[in-house]
Amino acid sequence: MTKGNNIKVILLGLPGSGKGTLADFLKKKYDLFHLATGNLLRAAIQNNTPLGKEAEGYMKKGELVPDNLIINLVKEEITKGGKDGGFILDGFPRNIIQAEKLDKMFEEVGQSVDMALEIIVPEEILIQRLTGRRTCAKCGALYNIHFSPPDVENVCNECQGELFVRNDDTVEVVDKRIDVYWKNISPVVEYYRTKNLLKEVNGGSSAGETAADVAKIIEELP
Ligand code: AP5
Repeated sequence: MTKGNNIKVILLGLPGSGKGTLADFLKKKYDLFHLATGNLLRAAIQNNTPLGKEAEGYMKKGELVPDNLIINLVKEEITKGGKDGGFILDGFPRNIIQAEKLDKMFEEVGQSVDMALEIIVPEEILIQRLTGRRTCAKCGALYNIHFSPPDVENVCNECQGELFVRNDDTVEVVDKRIDVYWKNISPVVEYYRTKNLLKEVNGGSSAGETAADVAKIIEELP
């Protein structure tokens, strides 16, 4: 058991900054519970649930899904993850209401956030990353046709599942998602900075380099 095994870490960063890619590394290295609100919402749409039906229109346009829906979803998942284990929160919180609510949810189970990690990337690389992204429909593994293509086109290396393109990864919707990110995130970053929980990492280098930098940050946490 290392100190990373119990960590509660929030990943903040623009669409395409590499939150999902980094979460995949962290969950394997430290055996953490990965809670990705975007993935949960896409599964709800796929399964045609009431939540999925309500969320779909917002997601297609690149807008945030209403807070009450997301907060209920996260509350449910936090309970499932077990209150004592470590967590990666990927895609939540996205605005100050969600950040404050998260603290309350953790308080109720006697836990708290250990680190909010902001992944910093130059905006000009995002379009290429997102339009090149391919995701495995079966296991969720991430690929990129420019930077990390699968061995066989459109087939997952790990489970042979089919790869798909997300319907919010068009240039137009990505622009909107970037805009929405900047409109909401500054108070969240300030919130964690004031609590002395904010760390930053360069997400513009290779995925391996970013992962190594983050592992170092975690090992150096008090
Ligand atoms: P969500 O699914 O959370 O999307 P996002 O935040 O826009 O982030 P992405 O998943 O697009 O990117 P990422 O940073 O994870 O990058 P990735 O690692 O995949 O949210 C989608 C929607 O759901 C929102 O628009 C909203 O509608 C709704 N939603 C979700 N949460 C919500 C909330 N809390 N409140 C309200 N609404 C919410 O990498 C991208 C690509 O780049 C991949 O191909 C990857 O292989 C590649 N890549 C990654 N890192 C590198 C690297 N270092 N070098 C080269 N390539 C790399």
